[in-house]
Amino acid sequence: MILKAENLRKSFGSTPALDGAGISVKAGEVVAVMGPSGSGKSTLLHCLAGILKPDSGTVHYQDIELSGLPDGERSELRRTHFGFVFQFGQLVPELTCLENVALPLRLGGMSRRKAEAKAIDWLERLEVTSVKDQRPSETSGGQGQRVAVARALVSSPKVIFADEPTGALDSLNGERVMHLLTSAARDTGAAVVLVTHEARVAAYSDREVVVRDGRSRDMEFAT
Ligand SMILES: Nc1ncnc2c1ncn2[C@@H]1O[C@H](COP(=O)(O)OP(=O)(O)OP(=O)(O)O)[C@@H](O)[C@H]1O
Ligand SMILES: [Mg+2]
Repeated sequence: MILKAENLRKSFGSTPALDGAGISVKAGEVVAVMGPSGSGKSTLLHCLAGILKPDSGTVHYQDIELSGLPDGERSELRRTHFGFVFQFGQLVPELTCLENVALPLRLGGMSRRKAEAKAIDWLERLEVTSVKDQRPSETSGGQGQRVAVARALVSSPKVIFADEPTGALDSLNGERVMHLLTSAARDTGAAVVLVTHEARVAAYSDREVVVRDGRSRDMEFAT
């Protein structure tokens, strides 16, 4: 297992969001996290990624227990081992698409030339080189999401966390983004934890985990 969470509990005030949830993800596996609105999917994803600290329970990435790491080391781990795609790309509005994709590498200290060359490769893969000099606001929703996928993959992460990555797209663009995301992940050996409402999107996964009332159930190889 590359990622394993056990018995996670997390409340926001008096609202329990997670009530004993867990999940295991193997290296290179694509896991869909499904369940009704408000069931705790995003909270689970944020705990897995070390963005949120659970009230109790453990998250292991490889042999590392995330909540045991100092904040600085946890953000460093996130930057170097994890990639993120959200419903709305969350690209930096002031940067061009090329600069956005190069950003994770630049933050890691890579030279601009090298980082942008790699970024171009990923934009090509995601079939969005045409928008490289445009700002995110000047792209279509589907193009923006493909740029966001390129940015998530550029630093060769071991795990990609995607929360409703196609939620704001029409079905054709959604399919395209899912196809490109999962095939790129399979080629690079990255695992994907994918939160989605849509069965059509979940069909791209190897396995489904269903979250209900803050508890998770593993539908082992249900697809
Ligand atoms: N920052 C927060 N502050 C207060 N309550 C929160 C917060 N985040 C989540 N919650 C609550 O925790 C519960 C689980 O929320 P979560 O966002 O994980 O659900 P979800 O399954 O991702 O829903 P959706 O499918 O609508 O995105 C909900 O009752 C929600 O209102
Ligand atoms: Mg959510």
